Amino acid sequence: MSYQNPLLETPTRPLPGRVAIIGAGTIGPDIGYYLKSALPDLELVLIDVAQPAIDRALQRFQEYAKKALARGRMTEAQAAAVTHGVTGSLDYAAIRGCDWVLEAATENLALKRRIFAQVEDIVAPDALITSNTSSLPAARIFAELRHKARATVTHFFAPAWRNPVVEVIRWSQTDPQVIDYLRWMFCTTGKVPLETGDVPCFMLDRIFDNWCNDAALCLDRGTAAEIDSTAAQFVHAGPFFVLNLAHGNPIITETNTLQADEEGEHYRPAPIFRSVETWVTVPPGKRIEVPPQATAAVRDRLLGILCSQSVDILDRGIGTPADLDLGCRLALAFKKGPLELMRDLGEAEVRRVLDRFAAERPGMPMPRRELADYQRFERHVLVDDVDGVKVITLRRPEALNALHDELTDEILAVIRRHEGDPAVAGFVLTGYGARAFCAGADIGRFPRMLGDAQASVQYSRDCSRLLVHLDAMHKPVVAAVNGMALGGGFELVMRCRGIVAASGAWFQLPEITLGIVPGIGAMVVPYRRWPSAGAAFHGMLRRAERLKAADAHKLGVVDELVPDDGDLVRRAVARVHALAGKPRAALDAAAAIAPFEPMEPAAASGQALSREVIGILEQAVRDAASAPSFAAALDVGYRAFGRVACTAAAREGISAFLERRKPDFGKTG
Ligand code: COA
Repeated sequence: MSYQNPLLETPTRPLPGRVAIIGAGTIGPDIGYYLKSALPDLELVLIDVAQPAIDRALQRFQEYAKKALARGRMTEAQAAAVTHGVTGSLDYAAIRGCDWVLEAATENLALKRRIFAQVEDIVAPDALITSNTSSLPAARIFAELRHKARATVTHFFAPAWRNPVVEVIRWSQTDPQVIDYLRWMFCTTGKVPLETGDVPCFMLDRIFDNWCNDAALCLDRGTAAEIDSTAAQFVHAGPFFVLNLAHGNPIITETNTLQADEEGEHYRPAPIFRSVETWVTVPPGKRIEVPPQATAAVRDRLLGILCSQSVDILDRGIGTPADLDLGCRLALAFKKGPLELMRDLGEAEVRRVLDRFAAERPGMPMPRRELADYQRFERHVLVDDVDGVKVITLRRPEALNALHDELTDEILAVIRRHEGDPAVAGFVLTGYGARAFCAGADIGRFPRMLGDAQASVQYSRDCSRLLVHLDAMHKPVVAAVNGMALGGGFELVMRCRGIVAASGAWFQLPEITLGIVPGIGAMVVPYRRWPSAGAAFHGMLRRAERLKAADAHKLGVVDELVPDDGDLVRRAVARVHALAGKPRAALDAAAAIAPFEPMEPAAASGQALSREVIGILEQAVRDAASAPSFAAALDVGYRAFGRVACTAAAREGISAFLERRKPDFGKTG
C-alpha cells in the first residue's frame, strides 16, 4: 500500500549497509557524500574505469567534510565518519555484498546496459539496482536485466549532496514494495522523493530541458543575456547560465532528441546547441536592459513552454501537481512552481499565453481540461488514511514545514472536508521528513507586516482560524511530533487534543530571540492547560529555553513518548481512537501564574534580547491569565503581537534572521 507521506510505509528492508556507486565523475561522489552524511556507518564503494576519477572523488569527500567542519555543520566525529569506510576500485568484484548498486555513469544506453549486466552477475538477486539518469526510461535501461523487480531509476539533482529532490521512477516492472522502500529510505535520510512516471526525462527534466530548448529557440528575439534577464522573473538562474554551469548543451541535444523520437518533432532540439559551447550571459542577480517588445515575446514563450509542459505532465499522470510545483522550486530553483504561477497569472492570461504558444509551437501539448481543474489540489499538505484516521502531513521541506496562512487554511479545509464523515474517527497532524514537525510561522512573511499593528493582529487572527476550529472540534486531533516544533508549530501542537512525540523531538518558543512574541496561543494556552508546568513555560517564553520531548512528557505536556524508530504516527492514530467520544477540557477559567522574577535580557543561548519586547510579553501573559474567557485571553495574544510588530526590535530581529546575522537589540532597546 502506498502512502503519500513516505514515512508511513513500513520498510520491507533495513537501511542500506553497503552501497556501490558506479561512476566517480561529478554526481556519483556527491550522491555518495549525501549517503555517508545521513548514514555514517555505511560502507561505500566507488567504482570507475579511471583511477584519477576515483582519486579526485575521494579527495572531494575530504574537502566537503573539511568545509562542513569549518562552517560548524559537522562535528569532528561526524566529519571523520563521513570520510571513513569509503573506498574506490576499478574492479567490479568490489561490489560483492552490496545491498544497493547505484549507477551514475555517462548518459549512454549501451554503456548503462553493459554496466548492469556486470553488476547483476555479482550482487544478490534481490540487491537494489538503480540508475541515476535524467532522461532514459527505466524500461530501456533495464530491458535486459534478469531480475527486474528490484531495479528502477533514482534521479538526483545537482548538487546531489545538498539538493533534496530525488525522482523515484514508477516503472511497471519494479516491485511496488521497492518503490515504497526507496521513497521511505530517501525521506528517512533527509531527501524529498518525488514518484514519477517512466517516460523520457521523467517529470522535472521535461520542464527543465524544454525550458532550455525553447529559450534557445527564442534566440531570434533576444540574446542569451537578454533571455536570462527576462527569465529572472521566474527563476533564480536563467537557462543559459545554468547550461553553462552544467555543460548542458550536448545534454539538451540528447534528451530532446529522445523526446522528439518518441513523442514528436516539436521536441526536436534547437540546432544551435550543437555549435555553441558556452553562452555569453549574466549571472543570477544581474540583469541587462531588454527592449520591451523582446521582453514580452520572450516572457510569453517561456511561460508558454512552462504551462504546456505542466498540463501535459498532469494529464498523463507523470507526477502529481503538488510534486511538480515543489520539485520545480526545490530542484530547479524556480521562484514559484508552474501551477502556482498559472494560478497567480489568472485564467485569461494563461489562455492568452497558451494561444500564442500554440501558434508559435504547433504540436506542443495543450490543456485537455478546464484550466481551473489543474488547480484543484493540496499544495502544502499530504493526506493519508490510516485505520479510519486522516493523517495530515505538513510538507514545506524548504522551510522546515514552517506555517503560513495558506498552509493553515489548507489543513483547515482538509479537516472540514472530512470531519462530518462518520467513517473518519479523527485526525493526526505531523511534519514531513524526519527533522521537523514545524519550524514555526514563516518568518519570510513577516517583513510586510512590520510597523502595521492592524495587519499584524489580522495575520494572527488569520493564522488562528485553524486553531480556533481545533478548539471547538468534537473529533479528536492528535499531534505526532516527529522533530522540532518551534513557535507557531508548538502553538499548533498545544491546541491538539492529544500530543504524541518522538523521543528526539523538542519544543521551543524562539520568538523572543527575533524581537517578537508568540501571538497565537503560547502566552495563553500552557498556563490554562498545564498549570503545573508554568515555570517551564516562563523560561520558554522569556528565554527561549528548549524543552526536550522527554521533559515535556514528565511535565504532562506530551501524552506519550515513542522511540525515534518507533511507529509515531500509528501511536497517534491509536490515541485518536482512544480519545474519540471523550469531552475535552474547557480552558475558560482564569489561570494563576507565578510572578516573573527579574532577569537579565538574555536568551538561554546567551543571545541578548530586547527589554521592551520582554516587557510586552510579560504584560500579555499576565493579562491573558486573568482574562475572563479563553477567547478574550487569545485576543490579548493577537494584540500583543500587533504591538510588538511596531517596535524597532521586531524590525531588527526579523531582518537579522532573514539576513542570516545576529540581531543587535542593544541599538533598539
Ligand atoms: N520560517 C521560514 N523559513 C524557515 C523557518 C521559518 N520559521 N525556519 C527555518 N526556515 C528555513 C531556513 O531559512 C532555511 O532556508 P534556506 O535553506 O533557504 O536558507 C531552511 O528552512 C533550513 O533551515 P536552516 O536554518 O538552514 O537549518 P538549521 O539546522 O541551520 O537551523 C533552525 C534550524 C530551526 C534552528 C533555524 O532554521 C531557525 O532558527 N529557524 C527559525 C525558527 C523560529 O524562530 N521559529 C519561530 C518563528 S516565529
